[in-house]
Amino acid sequence: MLNRKPLLVFVTIMLFAFAGILMAQDSSPLPDTPDCNPATLAEQQATFESLLTFDFEADAETARDNLFRLGAAYQMLALQCGYEATDVEVDAMIQQILVFASMADIITANSVGGDMDAILLGLDDVRGDLFNGQLLYNSIENGLDGFPLGCSGCHGGEAAPLTEGTWTRTDEIRLNDEALAGYDVQRYLVESIIHPNTYTVPDYLPNLMPSNFGSRLDMQMLADIVAYLESQDQLLEE
Ligand code: HEC
Repeated sequence: MLNRKPLLVFVTIMLFAFAGILMAQDSSPLPDTPDCNPATLAEQQATFESLLTFDFEADAETARDNLFRLGAAYQMLALQCGYEATDVEVDAMIQQILVFASMADIITANSVGGDMDAILLGLDDVRGDLFNGQLLYNSIENGLDGFPLGCSGCHGGEAAPLTEGTWTRTDEIRLNDEALAGYDVQRYLVESIIHPNTYTVPDYLPNLMPSNFGSRLDMQMLADIVAYLESQDQLLEE
């Protein structure tokens, strides 16, 4: 299993590589942006290194792959800060981007998919972190594909049920619905996220919530979000 942080660094590189190449064309060396001041650069450099593990003794393969990723991350930094790549280097980078294209496969391989029983089984082995779930839910952390999930943007109570009280509502109202006989809170929440159209919450529009989260979340992210929603145990307003 790849872990999430390198994957995100990797995706970010993929997304910015082209922009970086284009930006590099007419920018002057070390532009005067906060991103390119020496302190920030040193910090970013340290962050990249700390996100990736280089334990060649314990896991040579991962360490080797991370070495490559670190190099790519450094290239991106240099490009953003005005490095003007030569034609040969641009060609080499385009080749690299083609290698990164297999990221889509890596993302798919890491995502939870759509098989409810397999997902629930998988969740048994993962401990959800509700704080991280909150970051994901509020689009502060991104999904597996490097893009925000946007949950909180919809779940303000108008277009979609209010986030607050999700656990209480599930426990006290949803699970009493005959259509959900045999469900527990976890199964309901997971199904609501992965297959939102299986059960439509009364008084809300069907087919509004995106149905692709199964390919945008890994097991840990899903566990984190479920943990966050389970912490939403506010009392319901009458
Ligand atoms: C484009 C708007 C939209 C986005 C984005 C969205 N949802 Fe929803 N969600 C809805 C709507 C509308 C419903 C109610 C209708 C239904 O059941 O599909 C819903 C229902 C739910 C429910 C059931 C709530 C209840 O009270 O029973 C849960 C849980 C949920 N969403 C979680 C999420 C999570 C987690 C995310 C982000 C990963 C998310 N949603 C993103 C629109 C959205």
